Amino acid sequence: VGETYFFRDSRQTDLIQRHLLPASAAERHGAPVEVWSAGCSTGEEAYTLAMLAAELGMGRGVRVLGTDLSARSIARAEGGLYGTWSLRGVSDTRRRAWFVTSGASYQVRPTVREAVRFRAANLLDGTADRFDIVVCRNVLIYLTAGAVRHAAHLLRDSLRPGGWLVTGASDPPIAVPGLERVQTPDGLAYHRAVEASAARSGPPAAPRRRARPSTGQTPPPVPAPAAPASPASPGPLTTEQPETAPQQGPQQQQPPGPAPAVLARRLGDAGRRAEALVTVERAVGVDPFDAELRYLAAILHLDGGEVSAAVDAARAALYLAPDLGVAHLVLGWAQAARGQDAAAARSYRAAARELAALDPDAGVPCDGQPAGHLAAVAARLALMAGGRAG
Ligand SMILES: C[S@@+](CC[C@H](N)C(=O)[O-])C[C@H]1O[C@@H](n2cnc3c(N)ncnc32)[C@H](O)[C@@H]1O
Repeated sequence: VGETYFFRDSRQTDLIQRHLLPASAAERHGAPVEVWSAGCSTGEEAYTLAMLAAELGMGRGVRVLGTDLSARSIARAEGGLYGTWSLRGVSDTRRRAWFVTSGASYQVRPTVREAVRFRAANLLDGTADRFDIVVCRNVLIYLTAGAVRHAAHLLRDSLRPGGWLVTGASDPPIAVPGLERVQTPDGLAYHRAVEASAARSGPPAAPRRRARPSTGQTPPPVPAPAAPASPASPGPLTTEQPETAPQQGPQQQQPPGPAPAVLARRLGDAGRRAEALVTVERAVGVDPFDAELRYLAAILHLDGGEVSAAVDAARAALYLAPDLGVAHLVLGWAQAARGQDAAAARSYRAAARELAALDPDAGVPCDGQPAGHLAAVAARLALMAGGRAG
């Protein structure tokens, strides 16, 4: 559960560095920008935030708080000493700039550590502190839907008016009054309205549940995916209110051509997994409420042996569409690949239950194979995984 590493998800670190830190510094008029890494695990994310600010020359102009439920993780975070696994994907330039090597380990430099403090705390207890930027990534994915709604309100309330919230690409989308979804070329963020956010009340809007059925047609030739946005030109931000976002925004953002899920399937079928994944991840950024996209991401990650990412994506699909039998199935595969046989057996049983509730001869949503066949497969896998679990 504590899986984390420095500069995780370059799209999001770009978003924070190019848009959110400069915007917050401008809002604060010289006062330090306050940043919260909520669910920071062993601290890599919190230090990364301080490093991103330091690279902008903000130095002492930023203060980062890292919190986590696990006191043991917080103790390790405070030590600031990491192995190479925590620095996977970090460039040599950044390694040299922000770490001192100590044998086979890397010590975060004192200038960065001075900007960061840590505290053991439960996100669901809320906080009296107020922040300009809150980063809560890959934490909501582990909470129940009710706890996610509670956390979403608390996270909103932890923001100063005009503040920003960033969740993980695989986290369930959140929708609370006073928090706008903002689509940028570098991904999705949430923005606390500057005025009157506290005056609005009422229950949060339920996330949209959507899963498009597969057409089952033979795929035509595969076009190349759209070119990525230029890193030098982040482009304008577009905002969406949570209540209206499902009907607006995504349609304006989609490039012409086949729907991303269709395109990703064709790319995946053609063995172009990496391109398929890019297509899916970009589409998730545009429409985080689409269960089919999350399910496709899970399959593509699993194909590439990225088992943890597959589990996260399958869970996100099931948060949006709890009755999506094939997502239970792929979650079971991923759990079995991790050797979690008892969990896999539970997922397979859930898959069998959902799939058995469908017309056995009809193609199942998001897959197209007959439901009866897949239900039988899931039931068999449940028995085998249950047997291994003992
Ligand atoms: C997968 S790690 C994510 C670390 C980091 N945010 C990242 O994305 O790399 C999830 C962390 O969330 C923490 N966590 C889970 N539930 C929490 C809660 N209710 N309050 C605070 N932390 C929580 C876990 O202890 C774990 O360290």
